[in-house]
Amino acid sequence: MSNQEWNPEKYAASAGFVSELGRPVLDLLKPQFGERILDLGCGDGELMKILADKGYDVAGVDSSPEMVEAARSRGLDVRVMNAENLEFGPGKEFDAVVSNAALHWMSDQYAVVRSVWRALAPNGRFAAECGGEGCVRIIREGMKLSLAKRGIDYKPRNPWKFLEVGIFSRILENQGFRVSFIARFDRPTPLPDGLRGWLGVFSNRHTEGFSDEEREGFYDDVEEYCRPRLYNERLGWVADYVRLRFLAEKPA
Ligand code: BEZ
Repeated sequence: MSNQEWNPEKYAASAGFVSELGRPVLDLLKPQFGERILDLGCGDGELMKILADKGYDVAGVDSSPEMVEAARSRGLDVRVMNAENLEFGPGKEFDAVVSNAALHWMSDQYAVVRSVWRALAPNGRFAAECGGEGCVRIIREGMKLSLAKRGIDYKPRNPWKFLEVGIFSRILENQGFRVSFIARFDRPTPLPDGLRGWLGVFSNRHTEGFSDEEREGFYDDVEEYCRPRLYNERLGWVADYVRLRFLAEKPA
């Protein structure tokens, strides 16, 4: 996982929509009662809570101790764990792994897929949604220009991997998964707290080492670049999200 810092309160206030928009991945998963389900990169447990409240047997993992603490405070079964090396040995496998808005934060997606494979029982399902190729392209351009203006290279600060359908399918299939559904699609996403609120949650890697004043200057520049492209009077700020959604099965 990237070493992005997570603040559960800030996340809930400015990015709570992320979990709400994750519901379609649950429809794709089609959870069954009696199955053991793992939420990979569960964050503050918002999506897990939907499953737990309906009576499903669900556990979660996340690499952020702060987010795990927030999920635990809701009574959820959550552990701090690295998705690239899930520690669920033989006899503790899951029937299903679900993941929303998390895979693009993980640096080695080959290792993640291998690790999910090991955590799944035969006939197990892996349903996920994450940022797809081109996700937040305009926002990233704005960040790149704003960093360049300060003499800073964007690349080493970029915490995201937005993969193409073809590459991700190949990673899954090379591991042995049968990919029954995979799609990349645009999903323009209104930002309830504006672009500034979004940057406050998601760009702390980009602004590492900045003073408060420098950070505000960075936000100003990103906003200025993005305003003509992502802002309109009627809808406010709408981020240029692209999603990758898939369902993969581990054969018996
Ligand atoms: C997301 O939560 O889906 C997301 C976060 C950061 C950049 C792009 C997408």
